[in-house]
Amino acid sequence: MRVVVGISGGIAAYKAALAIRELVQAGHDVHVVPTASALRFIGRPTLEALSRNPVTDEVFDDVASVRHVALGQQADLIIVLPATANTLAKLAHGLADDLLGTTILASRAPLVLAPAMHTEMWEQPAVQANVATLVSRGVTLVGPVAGQLTGADSGMGRMAEPHEVVSAALALVDGGASQQGTAARGALAGRTVVVSAGGTREPIDPVRFLGNRSSGAMGVAVATAARDAGAAVTLVGANLDVPVPTGVEHVSVETTAQLAQAMQALADADVVVMAAAVADYRVDEVSAGKRTKESWGETPTLQLALNPDILAQLAQRERTNLVVGFAAETEADDAALLERGRAKLARKGADLLVLNRVGHTEGFGDVRTAVRVLDASGIVAESRGDKVSVARDIIDAIAARLAAHDRSNPTEEPR
Ligand code: C5P
Repeated sequence: MRVVVGISGGIAAYKAALAIRELVQAGHDVHVVPTASALRFIGRPTLEALSRNPVTDEVFDDVASVRHVALGQQADLIIVLPATANTLAKLAHGLADDLLGTTILASRAPLVLAPAMHTEMWEQPAVQANVATLVSRGVTLVGPVAGQLTGADSGMGRMAEPHEVVSAALALVDGGASQQGTAARGALAGRTVVVSAGGTREPIDPVRFLGNRSSGAMGVAVATAARDAGAAVTLVGANLDVPVPTGVEHVSVETTAQLAQAMQALADADVVVMAAAVADYRVDEVSAGKRTKESWGETPTLQLALNPDILAQLAQRERTNLVVGFAAETEADDAALLERGRAKLARKGADLLVLNRVGHTEGFGDVRTAVRVLDASGIVAESRGDKVSVARDIIDAIAARLAAHDRSNPTEEPR
């Protein structure tokens, strides 16, 4: 596929290099169009070496081949990362005073923008109005996200990670969609979706806790895919190591008790996904003061108490919605892994269970993963790849299940 990567002049311009490399490695023909100010942040040789194509910001270079329109006409996809406030404004108003402007105006390809700017700029009514205009015209925005900004500050406005931008962009176009997960746009339009993500922590004393290695990456990817499929999404995040995506409600929790309370309050959503790694046990008596070697002795013991199974509670109440669980298991043997998944689905009473294998070196953080989605009849979907594309496949399986339910209950209001 022929992909134009536009770069505008923000500090995040250096991250465009990662997106270009990922696209080239995936076999795409990448043409980079920086703005003049982008070239003050990242050098032309870097862009030419990574894209393996000549790079210019000049409308008046290579005029004989009518480059200022040819690039856009021939593109299958245009991604601009970062998209600065200035570039958003120019695009919203159709300005064509540089090669990036003419390229975009001369193209009918899907346009994906990854805004990056400081929070104050992002929140300006002028910027938001430009964003609204672009979105109403069918432009896709990926991010920005909340996180660390250029200085010591942090907040909304950080560019989405290059990999997330590339994955979302490829999913928009044919071919890319089949490799990257297909979560149909609009497949969850009008639905409410609640996703728990991360790992709960159980305090031992004011400074220590019992926790687990979940980063929240998988659950956050599921929430993002649900958002992209048109749902109104609430993410209940337990100690997330990954940024909260834009466009989703976020409820932050720490302990299992807090997670249980948050999920119960949201239990009537059309789809409830329990992707969080929930501590099965909490510390029976949390110490008011810090435990010391003097007070705890040489062979301390911790008395634990069983936590409620939130998924089972959500699944076994009287309901008409869809409840989805996750199971991360360590069985090396495939048949045994599947059997555990089936038993867990039945025991918890969920409609779907997303089953994956984890180990000391498998499954956690920003890694590739492989999952199978089970229902009471067996495997209904399988997916492998990075968590963003796997999440889209999970959302596809959920959307298919909802659609089947609607077909078998035609008189009921769509859920
Ligand atoms: O039993 P196990 O922890 O393997 O089950 C995993 C599934 O159950 C996940 O969906 C997880 O979010 C959920 N769970 C829960 N409450 C617990 C333990 C797990 O909701 N106390």
